[in-house]
Amino acid sequence: MVDPSKMSVEEILAYCRQADGENGGGSAAEGASSEESSPPAAAPAPKTPSAPKAASGPMDRSGMSVADMLAAARSADSAGGETGGETAEADDEAEEEAVPAASGPAVPMDRSKMSVADMLAAARGEGKPAAKPAAKAKPAAKAKPAAAKPAAKPAATGPKDTASILAAARTSAKPGPIPKAEAKARAKEQGKASGKPKVVAPPMPERPAYAQPASAAAAPAAEDRRGFMATVFGAFMGSAIAVGFSSLALTHLLWLLGLARFMFPNILTEPPTRFKVGFPDNYSTGQVETKFKAQFGVWIVRYEYQGESQIYALKSVCTHLGCTPNWLEGEQKFKCPCHGSGFYKDGINFEGPAPRPLERYAIKLSDDGQLEVDKSRKFNEELGQWSDSASFYTV
Ligand code: FES
Repeated sequence: MVDPSKMSVEEILAYCRQADGENGGGSAAEGASSEESSPPAAAPAPKTPSAPKAASGPMDRSGMSVADMLAAARSADSAGGETGGETAEADDEAEEEAVPAASGPAVPMDRSKMSVADMLAAARGEGKPAAKPAAKAKPAAKAKPAAAKPAAKPAATGPKDTASILAAARTSAKPGPIPKAEAKARAKEQGKASGKPKVVAPPMPERPAYAQPASAAAAPAAEDRRGFMATVFGAFMGSAIAVGFSSLALTHLLWLLGLARFMFPNILTEPPTRFKVGFPDNYSTGQVETKFKAQFGVWIVRYEYQGESQIYALKSVCTHLGCTPNWLEGEQKFKCPCHGSGFYKDGINFEGPAPRPLERYAIKLSDDGQLEVDKSRKFNEELGQWSDSASFYTV
């Protein structure tokens, strides 16, 4: 007789099937149908009394059919106060509970202490590869997260309420962004604490020959050249600035002079209207004095007019368009160069476009005995003014 506690599920099932075949009390199909569809309390009632339920000790499974063993297993599983109608539910729960157990660490199990549900779960995991491969895959998939959960859980052993989590996060030693000064201070403290030696820079290598400074003799020459260039440049810049400022000053001076000239009115410096032309004895009969023409625009003539010897002053302006005629001594006439007007010695016009005789200025004998001409008064012959005694001096 084999000890059932040391049998595998397959062996148990094979043994049960063999026993069922020998007893003839029920086929495997019957057992299967009773396992799947019959209520747990109905079918095995006559064959399996309640003794196995009450008995908590190890049963002799060699004499039991599969249906009996399942019924006994169900009753044993529901012994904790569950009713017979809840057996299927208990089986499901047992199967669910068996998943983590199957996926746990591979510890050798004592099959004598396993419930049927455990054994079936183990059998499904071990001995039904060909029948329901999909069903096998499901527990495997379920087992993975279940196996992972226990590994992750131990990390969360700290406080679980929000305040505790926040407090733990605040007091954690995570390095965050800190100011530079604080970082330096920390580094200093760490250096002091660690006792690191102070970094000393290695000495600089010696300069090669081509990198040596110029000799002492060449330095003054270079300095002299630089000084000369600086002097020339400074002088040039200084002279340019001096020229600029001088031009500016000169421009301002000229501007001031122009302003001063502008402040005074333009005055025509004309010759006086009264002037003396000498004594009457200085003029001979028939004489034409031209020396006052340029300065005063006057000819002084001593000639006879209407049978009377007179000294008179003729205005040297042509009566045509205002040109200045010339005295032609050889022709004994005044001739205008502009349009050819001609005037006699007494001033009467006789040729050219001149419309009237020349004009006379007033003339008189002054207090000193000299003849004085007054240009402010004019006398016209066509108006009969030459008969005025002021227009001539009788000699
Ligand atoms: Fe003397 Fe014309 S201006 S002739």
